[in-house]
Amino acid sequence: MQQIILTVNGEKVEALAEPRTHLGDFLREQQRLTGTHLGCEHGVCGACTVLIDGQPARSCISYAVACEGREVRTIEGFGDDAVMNELRAAFNKYHALQCGFCTPGMLIAARDLVLRVPDADEKRIRVEMSGNLCRCTGYMGIVRAVKSVIDARRAVNDPQIEAAPAAAPAAFTPFQAAAPAAPPAVPPTVPPTAAASAAPAPAAPAAAPAAKKPGTVIEDEFTVDHPLARVWEIFADMPAVAACLPGAEISEHTPTSLKGRITTKFGPMRAAFAGTAALERDEAVKSGAIRGNGTDSLSGSRARGDISYRLHDAGGGRTRVTVAIDYSLQGPLAQFSRGGLVKEFVKKMVADFAANLNARLGAPAGSAAAAAPAAQVDAGGFFWTWLWGRIKSLFGAK
Ligand code: FES
Ligand code: FES
Repeated sequence: MQQIILTVNGEKVEALAEPRTHLGDFLREQQRLTGTHLGCEHGVCGACTVLIDGQPARSCISYAVACEGREVRTIEGFGDDAVMNELRAAFNKYHALQCGFCTPGMLIAARDLVLRVPDADEKRIRVEMSGNLCRCTGYMGIVRAVKSVIDARRAVNDPQIEAAPAAAPAAFTPFQAAAPAAPPAVPPTVPPTAAASAAPAPAAPAAAPAAKKPGTVIEDEFTVDHPLARVWEIFADMPAVAACLPGAEISEHTPTSLKGRITTKFGPMRAAFAGTAALERDEAVKSGAIRGNGTDSLSGSRARGDISYRLHDAGGGRTRVTVAIDYSLQGPLAQFSRGGLVKEFVKKMVADFAANLNARLGAPAGSAAAAAPAAQVDAGGFFWTWLWGRIKSLFGAK
């Protein structure tokens, strides 16, 4: 057992928890907050959604001990919340629940959506809510309820907008089968990579930069056993760079932009972000940046990422590469982006990239090794390794 101190619904809680106890069990069994429901316990259905430090998170895949020092808010903690009260009334009015099992998670996810995307239309609502599954009611009532709250709030904020009655969808469409992803609120982009299309067809210029939203910054560095000039040269060769990054593909590129996608699998989640990126290089100081946006075709989640790098002469014919990754994630996948987990994941990606880059630079020109693309990212193994590492560190094992 481990002593933990956290805040639950505004109150300080000191308790003992087994390192293996997930937050959902901790809340239900130790705190008697049974409004948090557990369905799949695999991070898929969203029934267990709570807020951790204000962000929606799956309590079934969050360890209670990992919430040390955090603020947790469950459905019981929204009694005096204006948006939640509007949603509750709308769920009643539009018959958005039957058995009610999914409803606590559904309400918490809907409240986040109403606050984060105040102009969401029906398509966007379906995409944003696709991480929460309902087993009995269907989704029409839920979508209508959420839309009615958004419309009503818009009408108040802008009297020019009349709160339109929620239109009946033409046909039943579950969240997961929702129509094509809504157009991204920010221009699409992609993370740093992408593998090569030999076709030198010019890529569409990266979308004009939108107002940048604050993101999370992860810094890392690695050393390559090759001289700075050679490393600088390969960093200009985007297909070669992409080939070193597992799961990356480039479909089009020019010296200043690229179009491509990166696929990854992380525990139960699969993502394939496609988008565009703008490329920058500063010859004088041997630094550069890849600034992109991308949309995951599977969940409709959107990612923005700026990757800045700088090369340093490490002596002895070696090069040290410093990297700063500034990213933000919106949509259903954002629920999985717990800081520590993403940080470890990114560090693993950077380490794989460094190893592939070293191998590629060391391979004889024209050899298969020099041209081989990196394998697709399957972080499933890493996911379990990470979990095991967390458990060991919580037990104090070396
Ligand atoms: S119970 Fe947590 S996502 Fe299903
Ligand atoms: S109301 Fe029964 S699962 Fe959603």
